[in-house]
Amino acid sequence: MTTAIRAAGWRGVIEAYSDLIGLPAGCRPVTLYEGGTPLVPAPGLAKAAGLDVDVRLKLEALNPTGSFKDRGMTVAVSAAIHSGAKLIVCASTGNTAASAAAFAARAGIACAVVVPEGKVALGKMAQARAYGARIVIIHGNFDQALTAVRAIADTGAAALVNSVNPWRIQGQMTAAFEIVDELGSAPDWLVLPVGNAGNITAYWKGFREYDAHLGQAGTQTRPGLPRMAGFQASGAAPIVRGQAVPNPETVATAIRIGNPASWRQAVDAATDSNGFIDEVTDEEILAAYSLLASTEGVFAEPASCASVAGMLKMARQGRLRPGDRVVLVLTGNGLKDPETAVSVSAGGAVECEADVASVSRAMGL
Ligand code: F0G
Repeated sequence: MTTAIRAAGWRGVIEAYSDLIGLPAGCRPVTLYEGGTPLVPAPGLAKAAGLDVDVRLKLEALNPTGSFKDRGMTVAVSAAIHSGAKLIVCASTGNTAASAAAFAARAGIACAVVVPEGKVALGKMAQARAYGARIVIIHGNFDQALTAVRAIADTGAAALVNSVNPWRIQGQMTAAFEIVDELGSAPDWLVLPVGNAGNITAYWKGFREYDAHLGQAGTQTRPGLPRMAGFQASGAAPIVRGQAVPNPETVATAIRIGNPASWRQAVDAATDSNGFIDEVTDEEILAAYSLLASTEGVFAEPASCASVAGMLKMARQGRLRPGDRVVLVLTGNGLKDPETAVSVSAGGAVECEADVASVSRAMGL
């Protein structure tokens, strides 16, 4: 379906998949030409896993604000404008805030974002500021921020653009459509980080609906469904523990969430797909973060690297079989979190005088 659109120039997920997203007639897209992200082979990671598996990376960092949130935000903001909203609000660990702020700026409406104190990566705060959002920093965590904005949105004062807004899910389904379009069928495994659990909900809905859609069209063999493998950080793993975590902690601040709004849907996605939700430690996340950048040349933020750490854990546990096609969703750009990058790779730089001999020596020549 998208081949012709790609040839004519990509103009975002709403144009590419309007029939499956289902925005009301007359709703004008607010778009930054998001989506259409590449699915890049990662043979170095397969080698690291010690297995003959076909690993692909869905590079969601290449969306306009550097994360997958743009897919859902274009749809949620378009719908909000259509119904007359003048203000959009969200709670966020950073990426949703950056995306909401960008699309609000694009649409010419106001945006307020509520974020937890001290736990949002620098690049994400910089983005929200640059796009002109009102930034509210609470003395609390993401879960408390979400409770507050839901209550405010319930009064009708603003449109809520967190993933509890069904339009966000409609937009984020498009990543599943793109994977099927590119591979010609569903992969064996779809591996992704889980925070508030909107994305795993959207992927699973997307794979199911696309399978049914292509089945109805009868134009090709049905793509089938992947098994879903979701990974939480060990210090913020309420679904794995089976109970909310009051004070979640992890280096992967994007998924520092103790009581996911789409908890039930995430469990359904794992169960119905014959998959699972598991955890990875901060040490595993940071090891995967360095491995990904140094073996594949792909720089993803720590939360995204839960996918990579998760895949390596699956390999160790014998869950992957030779020939399996495994898609790792890399949800956000490594540049968003320069502080983690610098602290993880401390010692990677040397200083010297400016003369040729000194530079040459410093290079180890
Ligand atoms: N990866 C990144 C980089 C994220 O920013 C998020 C969520 C996730 C994974 C998890 O996705 O919540 O749908 O399960 N970030 C949200 C935010 C919470 O506010 O930016 P999820």
